[in-house]
Amino acid sequence: MSRKILVTSALPYANGSIHIGHMLEHIQTDIWARFQKLRGHQCISVCADDTHGTPIMLKAQSEGITPEQLISKTREEHLKDFQDFHVDYDNYHSTHSEENKALSELIYSRLDQKGHIAKRTISQLFDPEKKMFLPDRFVKGECPECGSEDQYGDNCDNCSATYSPTELKNPKSAVSGATPVLRDSEHYFFKLPDFEKMLKQWTRNDHVQEQIANKLDEWFDAGLEQWDISRDAPYFGFEIPGAPNKYFYVWVDAPIGYMASFKNLCDKTEGLEFDEYWHSDSDAEVHHFIGKDIVYFHTLFWPAMLEGADFRKPTKVHAHGFLTVNGTKMSKSKGTFVKARTFLNHLNPEFLRYYFLAKLTSRVDDFDLSFNDFIARVNSDLVNKYINIASRCANFISKKFDGHLANGLDDHPLIKEFQQSADTIANYYENKEF
Ligand code: 2FM
Ligand code: ZN
Repeated sequence: MSRKILVTSALPYANGSIHIGHMLEHIQTDIWARFQKLRGHQCISVCADDTHGTPIMLKAQSEGITPEQLISKTREEHLKDFQDFHVDYDNYHSTHSEENKALSELIYSRLDQKGHIAKRTISQLFDPEKKMFLPDRFVKGECPECGSEDQYGDNCDNCSATYSPTELKNPKSAVSGATPVLRDSEHYFFKLPDFEKMLKQWTRNDHVQEQIANKLDEWFDAGLEQWDISRDAPYFGFEIPGAPNKYFYVWVDAPIGYMASFKNLCDKTEGLEFDEYWHSDSDAEVHHFIGKDIVYFHTLFWPAMLEGADFRKPTKVHAHGFLTVNGTKMSKSKGTFVKARTFLNHLNPEFLRYYFLAKLTSRVDDFDLSFNDFIARVNSDLVNKYINIASRCANFISKKFDGHLANGLDDHPLIKEFQQSADTIANYYENKEF
């Protein structure tokens, strides 16, 4: 039976380069999508750059260009990195697009009409010089627990305490250096608890891996809370309809970017229908490949938003662990923070594709790229086995068979065995055990 399958990777932020951590996910997605295509299914893979939010706005300012210029330049760079790694999206769009604006407004207004949006005034740190509210990461100060200096507004690098930015001692704006002040503003909230019952069922129905379902149980036990989805101007994003100077928080329109990229592809592809994939009773499949750090967004907020706005929910969210290099977190100072482009400048991308493929599993565990293991595997599997067999065969064929292959294959037991394994092999691929 032919299936209709939409596949996505998480949308990379438009304020930094693609690195090999991104590549782990995009290569996993690409292998899975290529497999589905080879099986003859209608499989569409889409991605886009995630372009909104404060860090992108500030980065553009610091480079003296507009956010639009920054995101368009970055998108070209990202797309080229993926193409050179043979990651073959059917469409690579941008969240700063007409399609995404229209879909974000549609989803928000449906949620609002159904009473899933609440408004209330909250008090947050405000930079009086730069005249903007400060996201947690843009406030620095002393940790309220251990007193360590120069810590971010959400957690301490030194003692791992988590806190709110208003608890920091001697807080300073990371944007201007000014001392932030508390200021009130009305915020819009998505009422996630309205969807608790649906989410508890959905997450136990094979839509997420078991390790994720267990994590979700902890979140359910802790209780779901309303989600703050608005940000005040200045903000690079989409204005909330009917709320001048209020913008959708970047994480609202980011996952909608999956739909928007697909919509953009539909509009240029004869016979590809948006509704066939996104209608609430669609029989198509939607698969999201993501990192474990963004599971909350994809398994709680996202299915709830879709349900509330009368769209279908994802078939499956496939989470992978973090990439470590030589056993530890990638680090610029240790030289283990490798950009995709740096890898490409020195090595064949197939080596990394192969290494990821060989070691990836369906589990959420972290993935270690050990340089020694990488060299050993490429040499033993790719060079000594694969290439060696091809090279010996080429030799036989040219020496003994005048450079010609047979017209057909003998009805040999070995070939039979190989062909009969197709379903077993396909099952492994389907389950991400490449
Ligand atoms: O964590 C990130 O890198 C985000 N830019 C991922 C967004 S995924 C989707 F929701 F758009
Ligand atoms: Zn601390």
